[in-house]
Amino acid sequence: MLVCPTKAEVRSLVAGYRRARRTVALVPTMGYLHEGHLALVREAKRQAEKVIVSIFVNPTQFGPNEDLDSYPRDTDRDLALLEQEGVDGVFLPSPEEMYGTGGATFVEVPELSGMLQGVLRPGHFRGVSTVVTKLFNIVQPDAAVFGEKDYQQLTLIRQMVRDLDMPIEIMGHPTVREEDGLALSSRNVRLSESHRQQAVVLSKALSVAEDAAKTDPDIENLKTVIHETLNDAPDGKVESVDIRDAKTLAEVVGHPARPVVALLAVRFGSVLLIDQRVIANLLTVVDGNKGNQI
Ligand code: PAF
Repeated sequence: MLVCPTKAEVRSLVAGYRRARRTVALVPTMGYLHEGHLALVREAKRQAEKVIVSIFVNPTQFGPNEDLDSYPRDTDRDLALLEQEGVDGVFLPSPEEMYGTGGATFVEVPELSGMLQGVLRPGHFRGVSTVVTKLFNIVQPDAAVFGEKDYQQLTLIRQMVRDLDMPIEIMGHPTVREEDGLALSSRNVRLSESHRQQAVVLSKALSVAEDAAKTDPDIENLKTVIHETLNDAPDGKVESVDIRDAKTLAEVVGHPARPVVALLAVRFGSVLLIDQRVIANLLTVVDGNKGNQI
């Protein structure tokens, strides 16, 4: 496995793969890897002959009051895990290497970045779409794999790639969970023991909503059962509960005819946890349409 701290090194590595006519998949990460990331790496290995993982804690997607400095980092452990997975190359740039001194250009998908998590974290998605564009331009992969846990991020990247004709296949991978249902996240290590136990309410609430949708898929009903379940966590501060069209993230009301996605954000102390579930199994609605798989 070759570790490339510079753009030039990773470009030259990929150029070699191209000369050998190998396909290349990229897994963008911010490091502090867990099983969820490794599942993305395994998916990338199924999709392409060569796999590059980037590790970069991207400052432009953190707000001034967010956890950039305390974001967990353990590069030695990350590299050991990636080596075990048989990854071919790791792009590990410093912020200076990535942005230089005078970056003045941003990529933005205004509608998708201004809604939902984008309201709670202004500027976050502009940072994500800009750094992902840079990573795509540097590595030029055939495919890139992202977790479905960050559903809004995945939707926005798919839109950006379509709109800007980037010749890259975007693969989403289902959320990997602890045994009790908690979605894996690098932030979980910062939960106190009590908060860790309470955090299971996110996945519970999603399961309750999924069940409720089979008998009464009214959006307000689904939101109510989600809030009721989240209230079981005494220390959980519910930041947002949204149910949107699963493909476009447009608002939906009443009895939806197409699959929806439930998106939750709950804060435990200083740790913001998010989770999501696509609910495709909706009760037949009045005009006879059934929710179609997306
Ligand atoms: O999901 C993440 O870890 C980050 O947002 C990403 C896609 C690596 C961009 O910094």
